[in-house]
Amino acid sequence: MLCGCSGISLSLGGRLILSDVGLEAKPGEILGLVGPNGAGKTSLFEVLCGRYSPDAGTVTLDGRDVTRTPFHRRARLGLGRTYQSPVVPASLSVGEAFRAARKSHAPYLSRHDAEWAARLTHLHVPWDTPAIALGAFDRRKLLMACLMMRRPKVLLMDEPASGLINAEIDELDLIIRQLVDEYAIGVILIEHRLELLSAVADACVVLDLGEVIATGPPRDVFDDPKVKAAYFEGADA
Ligand SMILES: Nc1ncnc2c1ncn2[C@@H]1O[C@H](COP(=O)(O)OP(=O)(O)OP(=O)(O)O)[C@@H](O)[C@H]1O
Ligand SMILES: [Mg+2]
Repeated sequence: MLCGCSGISLSLGGRLILSDVGLEAKPGEILGLVGPNGAGKTSLFEVLCGRYSPDAGTVTLDGRDVTRTPFHRRARLGLGRTYQSPVVPASLSVGEAFRAARKSHAPYLSRHDAEWAARLTHLHVPWDTPAIALGAFDRRKLLMACLMMRRPKVLLMDEPASGLINAEIDELDLIIRQLVDEYAIGVILIEHRLELLSAVADACVVLDLGEVIATGPPRDVFDDPKVKAAYFEGADA
């Protein structure tokens, strides 16, 4: 298994946020992680990447138990993570952001690595552009490129389509598909619009109120009455 977890339970502020959650990301596949607002998707990412320590359960990465391994060591083992908000360094240009990312890697990465990652993520902007001046999609591309330079084995992507228009979402799908098909990266993709996931995901896990309510191929999962109820009787349709 590339990256996964089993039996994960997590409480925050005295509230049970995740209960007995398990999933598995495979190399060269996109696993959709779906669920209404507040279902626990981002919290599960925090557990997988090591920012939250679960009360119970096991997290594995590339065949190792990393449940107690700190965030930065999981990153070095090949885990990459993007966030719901694409926050770029306010005082840096695109080129400076790349340089900072190159130099935070041991050993330093080369400018060639940055150019490769920019091409891979379709980031076609002058490198002297202030990162803060980039639009939402280019910010996401820059952050993704900085991650890809480290050649992660698995990418956790938290609502990467948020804030994008339809044509941009199509391009994002192409970029992610290329990461998976050409580089055999395993992607766990959070998205709560079911129709977007059915186009790209190989499999889906649906969370509701911190529990897995369905898992399997997207079409089957989205036809599941429990999933329909969670979406259409819940807060977010
Ligand atoms: N640090 C925290 N302390 C207490 N409760 C938290 C904390 N972080 C998240 N929660 C609660 O945990 C639940 C799950 O939140 P989470 O952000 O994981 O959901 P989500 O599925 O990512 O939702 P969204 O689709 O809105 O991003 C929510 O009820 C949220 O209020
Ligand atoms: Mg979230």
